[in-house]
Amino acid sequence: MATPKLNPNRELVVGPEEPQAPYPLKLTGTVVKGFGRGSKELGIPTANLSNDALDTLCSAFDTGVYYGWTSIGTDKSTVYPMVMSLGWNPYYKNEKRSAVFHIMHQFEEDFYGTSIKVMITGYVRAEQNYPSLDALIEDINTDIEVARQSLKRPAYDALKSDPFLQQ
Ligand SMILES: Cc1cc2nc3c(=O)[nH]c(=O)nc-3n(C[C@H](O)[C@H](O)[C@H](O)COP(=O)(O)O)c2cc1C
Repeated sequence: MATPKLNPNRELVVGPEEPQAPYPLKLTGTVVKGFGRGSKELGIPTANLSNDALDTLCSAFDTGVYYGWTSIGTDKSTVYPMVMSLGWNPYYKNEKRSAVFHIMHQFEEDFYGTSIKVMITGYVRAEQNYPSLDALIEDINTDIEVARQSLKRPAYDALKSDPFLQQ
């Protein structure tokens, strides 16, 4: 696969060296289908969090892009990096707030309906509108790299082993 184009104007490591309150925020939910544009139009598979998890998130955070760790399904022993957009998806003019996430792992099958644990470890950026689909894709690919790089810092990497994610 070709290396995705990143936004050259953005820093690839964000936030403090250690998570500060309200991070890390831990929540449990179910994976649900969004509008399905993630894989089809963006080439970046995404899924949505169920309303209970969305409500928890909306009461804790403003809209924007966040990063952290996640585990899904019945085998929660594997923890993956993830990036999540909380908001209205202005590019698509959604009328309902959603939590759309991408997990940095290539899954063989869809996992709608399975339980998910999410640990939000930090904030990446504000939600934006874009002049083109390519610009949106470039920023999401940059978010993915920001999450990867930012999670490599020791205090963030250590959270991967938190028992909350693995049970
Ligand atoms: C990391 C990430 C960042 C995103 N940032 C934005 C954004 O700034 N503006 C926007 O309109 N949509 C943003 N989106 C949302 C995408 O437009 C949305 O995920 C896509 O439409 C797929 O959603 P769907 O499955 O509900 O169709 C972001 C999604 C992700 C995963």
